Amino acid sequence: MNPAQTMRVTAPAAAAHGGLRTVLRTTAPIAPATSVIDVAQRILDPQHEGLLSLPVVDEGRPVGTISRYELMRVFLMPYGRELYGRRPITSLMNASPLVLDWATPLDLAARAIATHIRSPITDDFVLVDGAGAYVGTGVVLDVLRAVEARLAERGGELERAYARLKSSQLQLVQSEKMASLGQMVAGLVHEINTPLGYVRNNVEMTRDALGDTVRLVASQQAVVDALLGGGEVGESGFEVHLAEIEMLRARVDTAALEDLRELLDDTLHGVGQIGDLVLNLKDFSRLDQAGFQKADVNKLVDGALKIAQHLLRKSGVAVVREAGDVPEIECAPAQINQVLLNLVGNAIQAIDHDRGRILVRTQWLDGRALILVEDNGKGIAAENLQRIFDPFFTTKPVGQGTGLGLAISHQIVGQHGGTIRVASKPGVGTRFLVVLPAAPTEKSA
Ligand SMILES: Nc1ncnc2c1ncn2[C@@H]1O[C@H](COP(=O)(O)OP(=O)(O)OP(=O)(O)O)[C@@H](O)[C@H]1O
Ligand SMILES: [Mg+2]
Repeated sequence: MNPAQTMRVTAPAAAAHGGLRTVLRTTAPIAPATSVIDVAQRILDPQHEGLLSLPVVDEGRPVGTISRYELMRVFLMPYGRELYGRRPITSLMNASPLVLDWATPLDLAARAIATHIRSPITDDFVLVDGAGAYVGTGVVLDVLRAVEARLAERGGELERAYARLKSSQLQLVQSEKMASLGQMVAGLVHEINTPLGYVRNNVEMTRDALGDTVRLVASQQAVVDALLGGGEVGESGFEVHLAEIEMLRARVDTAALEDLRELLDDTLHGVGQIGDLVLNLKDFSRLDQAGFQKADVNKLVDGALKIAQHLLRKSGVAVVREAGDVPEIECAPAQINQVLLNLVGNAIQAIDHDRGRILVRTQWLDGRALILVEDNGKGIAAENLQRIFDPFFTTKPVGQGTGLGLAISHQIVGQHGGTIRVASKPGVGTRFLVVLPAAPTEKSA
């Protein structure tokens, strides 16, 4: 018969091993001239159990297949055996069987089988080598099992890859947290060092100024005592004291004494600043362990601004704070702090001119807390607007941004049952709006 009628799927050269070879059954082929009765005899042989059909091969090339189904149909006909039994098998065979290169990859073979085979499945397929010579037969069920096994294996691989990805992402988030913590600590050290420096200076100046003053007071006291009590100080002692008083009076800087009050006021202010920072830090660390609790949104915003103060000052960006009347909400304060720091940090980094201004407004609307962070920085290009919440999306130079800030913020706000939205105009500025419900919704908590 005409081999050109058979369907051939050739395999890519790369799949030299594996592929359909793994399901190959070396079935002895049938010559085209074999009689129908002989073929029926052969197919009943126990070694062909599990095969739906036998291959018909002419001079090493497959020309068709003959199925049990077809033979049964003929033999069940009245006089079928007598009518067809002696004819060559070519008169009954399927002359266009599915012929596949034995190097065909399993997935490609499965696709070819799916498009070629009809229901009910009556035939197996024929396997040939790269030159088209017959090598054996394949059973559809074997392919199915092989594909299934492969899928299971891939599923396992996928699961392992997913686990690896998750743990590396976690590590990244962790290191991002550590990095921002490091930055914060560095900023706070600077913030504490400045007031600490002048507090120390003021205290030293006060000590020097007071040293001579204390001695002057002591000498004056001695003279006064002598004058009043006429006691132990003799004429010459009296003069010694007067001389000493004279000397000390010259040394004591009365102007410095006058300044002392101002100096101490400054010192108090510095100590207050340090105390403030420490208090904020304490809040920050304590809140970190606390999870969900009632918190004052305005306090959180002010705390975050305080912690970002050194960044703001360094970049010369002014903050306009509009605090609305907002009742306490149920939230994870440390996490909201992180969101706020991310937004303020981004806003500062987006400003590349010296008219920098960030508006931070809080508001209570329809039972929800609104936090608006708006900057007049360079804005976000329209094509990036969709991507800024994606993990690892950043437009900042390598080493400066991880691209996790907004991804983490988005996740945190989501866990609170809230939303975070952005509007931006390149060259004009960017506005982020965080909306938090009074308490996390059931699903998110
Ligand atoms: N206020 C803003 N103005 C302009 N662009 C912004 C602003 N906020 C975010 N973006 C853009 O969104 C990107 C992603 O922000 P995100 O905070 O997720 O990461 P990042 O700031 O680049 O890095 P990281 O926060 O890890 O330091 C930024 O790289 C920036 O291009
Ligand atoms: Mg950021």
